[in-house]
Amino acid sequence: MPDATEAVARRLRRQAAYCLVDGSPLYASLLKAAADDVEAEGPVRQVLAGFEDDPWSSALSLRLMGAVHRLVLDDAAWPVFRQALIDQRERIRSLLPGGCQTNEVGRCAALLGGFLEVAHRTGLPLRILEIGSSAGLNLRWDRYRYESAEGTWGDPYSKVRFQHSYEVPPPLNRSAQVVERKGCDLHPIDATSDEGGLTLRSFIWADQLGRLAQLDGAIEIARSMPLDVEQIDAGAFLERELAEPRHGVSTVVYHSIFMQYVSEPGRQRIKAAIEAADVFHLRMEPGENVIEVRLDDELLGTAGAHGTRVRWNVDSTRA
Ligand SMILES: C[S@@+](CC[C@H](N)C(=O)[O-])C[C@H]1O[C@@H](n2cnc3c(N)ncnc32)[C@H](O)[C@@H]1O
Repeated sequence: MPDATEAVARRLRRQAAYCLVDGSPLYASLLKAAADDVEAEGPVRQVLAGFEDDPWSSALSLRLMGAVHRLVLDDAAWPVFRQALIDQRERIRSLLPGGCQTNEVGRCAALLGGFLEVAHRTGLPLRILEIGSSAGLNLRWDRYRYESAEGTWGDPYSKVRFQHSYEVPPPLNRSAQVVERKGCDLHPIDATSDEGGLTLRSFIWADQLGRLAQLDGAIEIARSMPLDVEQIDAGAFLERELAEPRHGVSTVVYHSIFMQYVSEPGRQRIKAAIEAADVFHLRMEPGENVIEVRLDDELLGTAGAHGTRVRWNVDSTRA
């Protein structure tokens, strides 16, 4: 193998190692594959021909990554996207039946005001039951930090911080204590596994890096606070969990961007289980033109689909 080829492969591998240390497994794996490709005299070798003598300080590997990323970011993304559908047709088709498995922690910023409202009204600790939890990241909403122009809530050192979620915040000068938390999903994801993390990341819209960072923070918190999401239908879960009355706690059944995935009989079963029990029903689901946050029949506020642009309906909040 010519020296120049070896040298280029070596510098790609060296950059891969730096990218891994600096927190980009994606770039690390792409650069390693690029190094292999150079040694196999593949397209990376051809693209980099003539640049072999550029000094290390000119960051040839990062210039390569930047060039390709630029194509992805501007309108050249479409031909690449289309080509992937051709080259990887069967693989992509095999992933389609898997269902939409977004677990969006940003939605906690919209749900928070509802939990605080229940705690404020009843003065009781909370027992929270989430249906359609996916990886259960929103079962840990009390471990995240919420910031608005009018106040803050939660751990100031949390790895998940919401700093731009509120247009009109809910009252945040309230406390809430979660004493029991359970979630269910037909297809639970283990956020702490490589496979689960990949699935969760794959559902983040690719140019929304802020959401990706929040997800990474939430996965870190999940590692330090293990919690099983039970694999069971939401209706069956609620029938079992709500069968006996619970005293000394406020039970909150909640869900976000979930009902559209449930069949009509499934919805009826969920509704019947909630109506038969003495519980609060908090939800973040699509209304006419906007996502609504409701507590029982009351409209508490509205938000964007990922929990940004939260506008609290201050009249709904009890002093
Ligand atoms: C779009 S995800 C939303 C996850 C989470 N609520 C959030 O807001 O990030 C919808 C989830 O509902 C789950 N799901 C759909 N039908 C269900 C059912 N009948 N019982 C339990 N989970 C269900 C799916 O598996 C999926 O994980």
